[in-house]
Amino acid sequence: MTSLNTEAEYVEASNLLYRDPALYDAVQSDGASAGVCRTLIEAYRPDARTVVDFGCGTGRDLEILAERFECVGVDLQPGMVDHARRARPELDIRIGDMRSVRLRKRMDVVTCLGNSLAYVHDNEGIDLAFATFAAHAGPGALLVLCSPVAPITRTEPISATVDTPMGPATVTIRHEWDLRTQINTMYRHWELPSGDEARDEIRRRVLFPRELDHYVGGAGFEVLDMFDSPGGGLAGPTAYTVARYTRG
Ligand SMILES: C[S@@+](CC[C@H](N)C(=O)[O-])C[C@H]1O[C@@H](n2cnc3c(N)ncnc32)[C@H](O)[C@@H]1O
Repeated sequence: MTSLNTEAEYVEASNLLYRDPALYDAVQSDGASAGVCRTLIEAYRPDARTVVDFGCGTGRDLEILAERFECVGVDLQPGMVDHARRARPELDIRIGDMRSVRLRKRMDVVTCLGNSLAYVHDNEGIDLAFATFAAHAGPGALLVLCSPVAPITRTEPISATVDTPMGPATVTIRHEWDLRTQINTMYRHWELPSGDEARDEIRRRVLFPRELDHYVGGAGFEVLDMFDSPGGGLAGPTAYTVARYTRG
């Protein structure tokens, strides 16, 4: 494992939206994952009072969850955490690595949303991340993950217009899939309203459903459900995993 700073700097350098967290908030503004979490908590753990979100980014999901729960967020990148603290000063957001951080608190709900788990690429790191989830899970805690469960194998680039506070930007996206490492790389080319350009290279590890079963079970959780959207099936490429902590 590389040092926190090196790893955080690497992640930040890979993505325009991490270098500009205000832009991240502006273009990733839907609270869909927070809504799904609230529905799942209502269904499986209606008495929940506390939530910890690993890989919370700018805290956009936590802001919604904090309307009902006592929340803590953890993220690897100091820049994202600085922005989160400025934009959402009411939230408790800490800098930490989901492979090693210990808050010394057990929560009713543990979340890792928005593909954050996919930034941990090797099996040993994934074991450590799940050990962290378990170390923060109280008796019967609910675990909610949103992560890639199947690769995007299409290689042709696609272009889209993205509304930014400075005007419309054009984004061209191309994917590459490496079966050996199970890393799906997204190459993204931004043409910004200012005339500037930026290039992202975002590497995400795919964990197939049976791998998730393995890691979730190995850390002491029992999988309750896996789906693309509540009430829907499981087709990927991204899915929610819901599990209950059975130890402790
Ligand atoms: C795509 S963002 C998702 C952020 C947030 N969950 C959301 O949905 O808006 C992925 C986040 O995972 C964080 N991350 C990556 N590796 C991490 C690690 N080892 N520990 C904690 N956070 C990590 C990144 O810093 C980034 O903020």
